Amino acid sequence: MKFYDLALERYSARKYQDKSIEEEKLNLILEAGRLAPTAVNFQPQRVYVIKSEENLKKINEITPYAFHAPVVLIVCADLSECWKNPFNGRKSGEMDASIVATHMMLQAKELNIDSCWVCYFDTEKVKKEFNIPENTEPFLLLPIGYAIEGSEPSPRHSQRKSLNETVFYL
Ligand SMILES: Cc1cc2nc3c(=O)[nH]c(=O)nc-3n(C[C@H](O)[C@H](O)[C@H](O)COP(=O)(O)O)c2cc1C
Repeated sequence: MKFYDLALERYSARKYQDKSIEEEKLNLILEAGRLAPTAVNFQPQRVYVIKSEENLKKINEITPYAFHAPVVLIVCADLSECWKNPFNGRKSGEMDASIVATHMMLQAKELNIDSCWVCYFDTEKVKKEFNIPENTEPFLLLPIGYAIEGSEPSPRHSQRKSLNETVFYL
């Protein structure tokens, strides 16, 4: 599929079939994340794969936005390993983790696997429940799986601003 068509077809799925993701497909999704660029190639991303019944139960108790997907990726960055911009002191971890997550989200779509980017969760609870190290910050959850038959994008999906509202030629 052409990249533009892939970007056009992706939408946030919020209802998933009770069907697991094939191991080779999950590996390819994780591998696509590995190829993402990160500042100075420091690769501070840390991706925790939640797919056991016990851990899925935990994540679904922490947030309703895991949507009972068969796999939930907790996408984090180790803030002690990421680049720091000397001009403004900002750390690149959140950007790095976001690019990794975007690669995984789009690779998943190419395999017909849906996802939803989720930030609505208590990061401290997630750290505690899954023993995520102190310096590692969870930035988003990526529930992934096969959307239910007849799944459709939410009305918000198609409310895109026009280019002239968001792009400025200087
Ligand atoms: C930073 C970020 C945080 C988001 N957090 C949530 C969330 O917590 N729960 C949710 O259902 N969707 C969440 N979304 C999905 C957005 O609502 C969705 O991408 C947006 O409405 C556009 O719809 P689309 O993905 O179907 O194109 C988030 C997306 C982004 C990029």
